[in-house]
Amino acid sequence: MAKNIGVIGDGNVGGALARGLKRAGHEVRGVGNDAGAVREAAAWAEVVVLAVPFGAIDSVVKMAGEALSGKTVVDVTNAIDGSMNLAVGFTTSGAEELQKKLPKSRVVKAFNTVFAQHMDTGRLGDKPLTAFVASDDATAKATVVGLAREIGFDAVDAGPLKNARLLEPLAYLNIQLGYTLGLGTQIGLKLLHG
Ligand SMILES: NC(=O)c1ccc[n+]([C@@H]2O[C@H](COP(=O)([O-])OP(=O)(O)OC[C@H]3O[C@@H](n4cnc5c(N)ncnc54)[C@H](OP(=O)(O)O)[C@@H]3O)[C@@H](O)[C@H]2O)c1
Repeated sequence: MAKNIGVIGDGNVGGALARGLKRAGHEVRGVGNDAGAVREAAAWAEVVVLAVPFGAIDSVVKMAGEALSGKTVVDVTNAIDGSMNLAVGFTTSGAEELQKKLPKSRVVKAFNTVFAQHMDTGRLGDKPLTAFVASDDATAKATVVGLAREIGFDAVDAGPLKNARLLEPLAYLNIQLGYTLGLGTQIGLKLLHG
């Protein structure tokens, strides 16, 4: 069934996910850095995708505030600091910290291990990439697994939100391979199923 999906952040990731979700038949409102628009989109949507820089999370939480209560909030961010290093790990993750800031929302970590270039199709060429989906809320997780499949990903239940501690470094490896080690962004992570 078509869902109302708010995408906060209208950059590479927000634009790509908005395209993929629209193609899948959902109602999508994408908004940029505008407090009123963020609040309205959050209030309208059933599912809200946070596609903003890690450093903008607090600002979005402040802008959207109560409008995110009871909503499924998809955290696509990578907790990377200004020196391009992982900002958190081992004992927490960006997603768990977001859940603490939004205790009434159902935070789901997803799509962060994929380069934006592949997020509108979930594919690299004709091969589906893996979307690892982690959350403590089974219903919210199932919703996001469904959305990821509709975009074209091979969506995999990656367990509780705590596993964002694994998914965020995995994304960092993807970034290292793509940018630091010269493989470029025409790469993607794929779980093989036997
Ligand atoms: N690029 C990738 O391949 C990739 C892959 C996986 C995950 N990610 C993660 O996804 C997130 C977005 O990455 P991106 O590449 O899409 O970055 P981007 O192209 O720089 O886009 C970020 C967007 O967020 C907006 N924004 C900033 N602060 C905001 C706020 N307070 N409220 C609403 N919108 C705000 C920016 O608007 P203004 O420019 O007007 O400030 C911009 O449109 C990051 O956390 C990144 O780590 C990126």
